[in-house]
Amino acid sequence: MKLQLLVASLGIVSLMASGSASADAAKGEASFKKNCAVCHSNKAGEKKIGPNLAGLAGRQAGTEAGFAYSPGFTGVAWDAANLNKFIENPKGMFAKTKMTFPGMKDAAERADLLEFLGVK
Ligand code: HEC
Repeated sequence: MKLQLLVASLGIVSLMASGSASADAAKGEASFKKNCAVCHSNKAGEKKIGPNLAGLAGRQAGTEAGFAYSPGFTGVAWDAANLNKFIENPKGMFAKTKMTFPGMKDAAERADLLEFLGVK
C-alpha cells in the first residue's frame, strides 16, 4: 500500500517536472490578455505601447522596425529559454528596460504563455 502511494506520487512529480509538455495554450491566451495585452498585440501590424509580438519565435530582441527600444535592448534571440527568463524578471535581463512589468513568478503560467505565443 505504502509502495503504491510512493509510486503514485512519483508519477505526479514527474508530470509536474515535464513542464512545457503539459503547457496549455488556452490558459496562455487568458494570461496574455490579463498580463500583456494592455501593452502588446500578437496580431501583425497592430500598434500598442510595446513592440508587436506577432512572429516572435526566433526573432532578435529589439528589432521591430520603427519601435523606439530602450538603450541596450539587444543581443538575445527570443527562444523559449530567453523569453522565459525575461518574463520572469524583465529588469534582471535588461536593467534599463522600459517594460514596466514586474515579472511573472509562476513557472507553469510562463510555460502556458510561451505555448500561446508559439515560442518553443
Ligand atoms: C506596461 C506595458 C507592458 C506590459 C504589461 C508588458 N510589456 Fe512587454 N514590453 C513593453 C515595452 C515598452 C517593451 C520594450 C522594452 C524596451 O524597449 O526596453 C516590451 C518588450 C517586450 C518584448 C521584447 C520584444 C522585442 O521586440 O524584442 C517581449 C518579448 C515582451 N515585451 C513580452 C511581454 C509579455 C509576454 C508580457 C506579459 C507577460 C509583457 N511583455 C508585458 C511593455 C509592456
